[in-house]
Amino acid sequence: MRSKLPISSLVAGWILFPLPYALAFPSYASLRGLSARQEEPVEAQGGKVPPNPPGPPSFTGTKLVDDSDHPWQAPQSGDIRGPCPGLNTLASHGYLPRNGVASPSQIITAVQEGFNMDNAAARGATYTAHLLVGNVVADLLSIGGKTPLTGRDFPGENATGISEHGRFEGDASLTRVDDFHGDRIAFDQGLFDQASTFFNRFGNGFYNITVAAELRFHRIQQSISTNPEFNLMGLRHISAYGEAALPVNLFVDGRKTGAEKGQLDMDSALSFFKDFRFPSGFFRAAEPGGAQGADVIVTTHPVSPGRNEGAGNYVVDDSLGSVLDPCKFYTQFVNVTVRDLYPNPRGVLRRNLNLNLGFVYEALGDPSCPQVFPYGQD
Ligand code: HEM
Repeated sequence: MRSKLPISSLVAGWILFPLPYALAFPSYASLRGLSARQEEPVEAQGGKVPPNPPGPPSFTGTKLVDDSDHPWQAPQSGDIRGPCPGLNTLASHGYLPRNGVASPSQIITAVQEGFNMDNAAARGATYTAHLLVGNVVADLLSIGGKTPLTGRDFPGENATGISEHGRFEGDASLTRVDDFHGDRIAFDQGLFDQASTFFNRFGNGFYNITVAAELRFHRIQQSISTNPEFNLMGLRHISAYGEAALPVNLFVDGRKTGAEKGQLDMDSALSFFKDFRFPSGFFRAAEPGGAQGADVIVTTHPVSPGRNEGAGNYVVDDSLGSVLDPCKFYTQFVNVTVRDLYPNPRGVLRRNLNLNLGFVYEALGDPSCPQVFPYGQD
């Protein structure tokens, strides 16, 4: 069921823990080479030219983010929330539009401002999500379910929002049940209680990288044994490990130093995961970060990418790449996953897909991984 992976094959992950030279590939020339014919009809079709990705902010230290300009408010009727406690928290504090619909640029700016997420990690996660579940023509993304607020959808079904199961949202989440078992979006108190026993057993009451490694492995084993449709392939193999590390780096108050750094207390965890709320007076991380430590989580209990063929029958399948092979993931993401969603794009749609694909490649930041162009380069 569980297969060991050679540690030597472990490479730095991508989306949520990009290679350090990610920033060596600025995206500021991305519109070059597009024909005037493709640019002209955008407004007429209700489309928007996606702007180049925001860069890192000028100040990247810790600061109070639970401030008077960003008071927490419970979601109002019609406000959208989804499976990500980070994005939900930013929306409930007004760093993102409180209705839960935002452009990729707004999301990148918000995760940097509110959590001090590293620029390349922010770009990688956001543009990947946008290509999978956003409205790439209108340049809008729902942080939860499908909504008319993201505009007219081309071809009419792809802009589902990040709650859509099997695109970015996936199985073995830490605080939400698998889609097969019920509501994959709602916070699950039983799973949080289970997590808290791991806080106590492995972290002296706190969530840290050691706890993350044990809990991540346990949740995967639970899903393998109970979910006949369990899937841990491609992006989910990357995100499952990255998301287990994020709370250690970004949910801990940035004023903590020494032995307290990287130790998330249970009340703060509950505040983020359940209430989508900064703990009172919260300071963001002291330096830009993302999924640092995910390599430790992977190597503590390595599990190959794969999927269940019936409960308890885990079949290794690396056809979509994994955290162990980010270049294969990138290539398959573009050539298989995105192409399946958009087999024959034209006009504005094709132009915007190409721009967003370029943004994803730039976030990868790996010059040894060749860029692929499924829709041509003009
Ligand atoms: C940059 C854009 C981001 C996108 C597109 C994104 C998207 C997502 C998605 C789709 C999930 C659900 C995956 C699943 O099924 O478990 C998720 C989970 C998660 N996200 Fe985000 N996220 C982003 C940023 C952040 C940030 C800034 C944080 C922390 C400050 C964060 C923390 C988490 C955590 C801890 C989970 C796991 C929840 C669980 O397992 O119960 N994310 N994210």
